[in-house]
Amino acid sequence: MNKGDVIIALDFPSADKAYAFLDQFKEEKPYVKVGMELFYAEGPQIVREIKKRGHKIFLDLKLHDIPNTVKSAMAVLSHLDVDMTNLHAAGTIDMMKAALEGLTRPDGTRPMLLAVTQLTSTSEERMQNELLINASIADTVQKYAQNAKEAGLDGVVCSPLEAALVKQACGSAFQTVTPGIRFADSIADDQARIMTPEKARSGGSDYIVVGRPITKADDPVAAYRRCVKEFLGC
Ligand code: C5P
Repeated sequence: MNKGDVIIALDFPSADKAYAFLDQFKEEKPYVKVGMELFYAEGPQIVREIKKRGHKIFLDLKLHDIPNTVKSAMAVLSHLDVDMTNLHAAGTIDMMKAALEGLTRPDGTRPMLLAVTQLTSTSEERMQNELLINASIADTVQKYAQNAKEAGLDGVVCSPLEAALVKQACGSAFQTVTPGIRFADSIADDQARIMTPEKARSGGSDYIVVGRPITKADDPVAAYRRCVKEFLGC
């Protein structure tokens, strides 16, 4: 059984700012998430440099295009030696299968591949009225997770409130990676549906993605350690 981890969201606009943040960690090498902002600002070199510093990386680019294009893009990403990457489940099972093919290196190894189900910013009302998806968010998340499993993916990115549902539908080995994490005594920022690290763990999250509660803390290293302690119990 996977032990999981706390992943810090490196939501910074430049390499300098990201390195200044990471330089504060003298003893640990946290698992980090590089998202669109940092990747588009700095290109693939930022991934190579952070890898060289010894961190595991979740490359959060949420690919969504025709299967052939996603397959080719994933083949390029497979050279970057990231540990985890993702795409939108809405691209269909065919797209997810093609992505998996592209991501798999000639020696059979590949990073973990996760599907985004419904973004936590999408409300049920908007999903129904604007996207014309006539179902509940819960049913959509469950179906998208099942599609990802059928395509051979390793798990999904979802709200911590949906992790238990995903585990129920897809089995305990199917991984759940959940943003929207806040300490019991910290502010919610713009996150609407939040959970503490401890509750996320007991609710079925394998990995939690934590941004501002760590990056904006007065003492980010202490905040990271608190998160690990609450989530992993060590
Ligand atoms: O600062 P905070 O802890 O809210 O950061 C959460 C991170 O997870 C951000 O990088 C955000 O883009 C990402 N994320 C999210 N909700 C999703 C998917 C990704 O908050 N549904």
